[in-house]
This record gives sequence, structure tokens and C-alpha cells, in this order.
Amino acid sequence: MSDLLIRGRVLTFVREPEGIDDTAAYRFHEDGAVLVADGKITGLGAYGEVAKQAGGNVRIADHRPHLVLPGLIDTHLHFPQTQAIASYGAQLLEWLNTYIFVEEQKFKAPEHAAFIAGRFMDELLSNGTTTAVAYCSVHPQSVDAFFAAAAERNMLMIGGKVMMDRNAPEALRDTPATGYDETKRLIEKWHGRGRGHYAISPRFAITSTPEQMEMSGALVAEHPDCYVQTHLSENLDEIAFATSLYPEAKDYTDIYASYGLLGRKTLLGHCIHLSDREIAVLAETGAVGVFCPTSNLFLGSGLFDRDRFARHGARHAVATDVGAGTSFSMLETMDEAYKVLHLQGQRLSPLHSFYMMTLGNARALELDHRIGSLHVGADADIVVLDSRAKPAMELRMQVASTLGEELFVLQTMGDDRSVAEVYVAGRAMKGSRAKTGGESST
Ligand code: GUN
Ligand code: FE
Repeated sequence: MSDLLIRGRVLTFVREPEGIDDTAAYRFHEDGAVLVADGKITGLGAYGEVAKQAGGNVRIADHRPHLVLPGLIDTHLHFPQTQAIASYGAQLLEWLNTYIFVEEQKFKAPEHAAFIAGRFMDELLSNGTTTAVAYCSVHPQSVDAFFAAAAERNMLMIGGKVMMDRNAPEALRDTPATGYDETKRLIEKWHGRGRGHYAISPRFAITSTPEQMEMSGALVAEHPDCYVQTHLSENLDEIAFATSLYPEAKDYTDIYASYGLLGRKTLLGHCIHLSDREIAVLAETGAVGVFCPTSNLFLGSGLFDRDRFARHGARHAVATDVGAGTSFSMLETMDEAYKVLHLQGQRLSPLHSFYMMTLGNARALELDHRIGSLHVGADADIVVLDSRAKPAMELRMQVASTLGEELFVLQTMGDDRSVAEVYVAGRAMKGSRAKTGGESST
């Protein structure tokens, strides 16, 4: 296949922005281009320069006047909850029992899991998300469906089978032994196959016995290159229940720490109600607190305190948390993140916001050598954003004069309509849904 020259207004970050207008944190080319060969970025810069490098035998995708950025990254969501978004009226534990533990039972059926996995990947792509970290259901067949759908699209996806051996319906429970064996088999099957990465996934302390936590710790020790994902300190009733189940633990965080689950590849959803001691443990271990703004507002869970994390030197990432999260769009997610921080007297600059959706989340996953920026050698996962996608945005953009303003319009007013194109390893994916559409069988 010939090389591909993607032309547009190219923006990529090189480090975390420090202020509202930290121009050294990014590279921006008003008439720029990204050169792609064999799924990788081979050139980046001003259009004239990159076109010269490309030579004659190149296809050109001209996206002017749209912005060309690294594909967006979502660090926490649940693929079996795709059809459970907008489940009314409950906080976390009631919401799980009333809606989610019913919905996830459907994923015992491989056809259903395959159908939703395909639609889930397409929904991510429609929203410009090229990499995500997802929970599958307890059923190994849901993990097969997840990674198969990712591989079909050549997406770099991270996921794993949820482990639960108590406080969940019988049909959704594994055991310490089967959870361990199934996880082990799935790691062998999918971790490092194509662009797949495995995440060892004890759902949270409430749904695992100490024996299952022990087995999870063994899996982590045996597979240090896998991710770990779980939930921490999301809701006050959850915290009280979790700590009552582990009376020996100093606090909720200590439950995970004492089973060896905390490290630089550990992603902890929510982290809203932590003590200073707990945040210090996260900083020490390098575990990542995942800020899920639409979910935290939807379930009435609370407000993530980003500045407190920063003061402790703890790492954080951002995510949708679909189906408690209400949108697959990282733009809409950062719109809510801005408001959640604003309520606490904290600022989220548009530069910082776009940094977080791309390079910031890639760094949280320790994958910034491959994704999250448009450097030469990176995987060619790219999103093209239209800041005039809706009439109200077009009107607003008539009076916008800076890049920062444009990014803020995109974040505040944008959604999937702003995603003009998305490339996965150099392949244009917009419109791929037509091939995989259909209706749920249940
Ligand atoms: N805690 C344990 N499981 C879940 C889940 O599926 N969603 C959210 N938001 N929190 C959880
Ligand atoms: Fe979650």
C-alpha cells in the first residue's frame, strides 16, 4: 500500500502544559501534515516539508481546515454496559444490583457479546477514541469477543475478564480458582497478540473474597507486564461496606496494597473520597487514579480532587466509565471534567484537557512511546476534529481567535459530530459501522 499523507492543522503535545498558554508544551502546524507508512508515523511537520519527504507515490488526505491530533484515549469503561447507559435513579450499589448485574448476565451468550463488542468498538471510533481500557464481563467469552472485535479493527485495546466471587448474582460469580485459571488462559491467548493488552480485573473489594484477592495478587506477580484495573473509593456506602469486609486493612486503599495490586500499571477508577494517607500510597506505588467526571455526577458519587492528587505527586488519568458514564465522547467527558474542577475552584485549561485525552492518558498507561502523540515512530492512530460541526459551534468559532479558544469550543460544544475522521494504524475508519451494524438479539 502506498504511503499516506494526512494534511490539516496538526496538533500534538510533547509534555504536560504548565499554564493556560504554555506554547512549549505542544507542536502546532497551521498547514501541517503527518506521513504514514505501514501503520506508523514516518514524518510530521509543515506540509511543504513533509510532502517533499513523501515524494511522488503518496495518497493525500486533505482535512483542512480541521485539526489533526493523536487518537483519543479512554482509560476506564465497561463494554458490557453499552446498553445500560441512562439507567435511572440510583447510586452505585443499588445501580449495580438493579441494572448492571442484570445486564452483564447477557454476556454469557457469545453472539450477544460479539454483537455488543463490535458496536462498542465502532462507538469508540465514532467518538475519536482509538484506545480504551475496558472491563469485560465475568464470562471468558466476553473477553474473546472484546479482543476479536478490537483485532478486526486493528485497535490497541486493553481489557480483561472481571473477577467476582461474592456479593453478585450466582450467574455472575467465578471462584478464586476459576477466576485465576480463566484469567491465565486469557492472558496467554490475548496479551501481546496483535495490539491487545490484558488487564487483570478484580472488579472491586466488595465483590472479591480475600481468597480471590490473593489469587489476583498472584496473577499480578506472575504477569508484571499486564495492567491491573479495579475501583476505589467511589461512593460512601461502598467504602463502608468494603472496609467492613476487610477489617484488618487500614483503609480501602490498604486492601489493594496488602494483596500486592498497586503499581505503575494499576488503574484505580474514581478515587474520590481518599484520605491523605491513601493518596500518599498511590503516589508511592505509582498507581493511577482515574477521573470519571460524567459517571461521578450521574451516580451522585462526588467530585474528583485533581489538585490534591497533584500536591501529593500522585498520577491521574481521565475516562468515560460508560455505562455509569453517560457518553462515549472524551470531548463531552472533558466538558464535565472542567465543571467538576470548577466547582472546587480548580482550573482545567483547554490545552491541559487535550493533553490529558492524548499524551496524558498515554503516559498513565506507559504507552506514550506508541500512542497519544504524533511523533515519528508512533502508531498512526489519529483523529480529525471539526470545530464547526454544529451551527452553534460555527457561530461561536466566528469570534474565536486563538487555538486555545478553538479547543475550548470543541470540548464544551463538541461530540461525535466533531469527529470528521479517525485513523487506526493509518487506516481511515469513519463509516466502518455499516459493515458491522445490526440489532441486539436480546
Ligand atoms: N464499582 C464496581 N463496579 C462498578 C461499575 O461497573 N461501575 C462503576 N461506576 N463503579 C463500579
Ligand atoms: Fe467503572
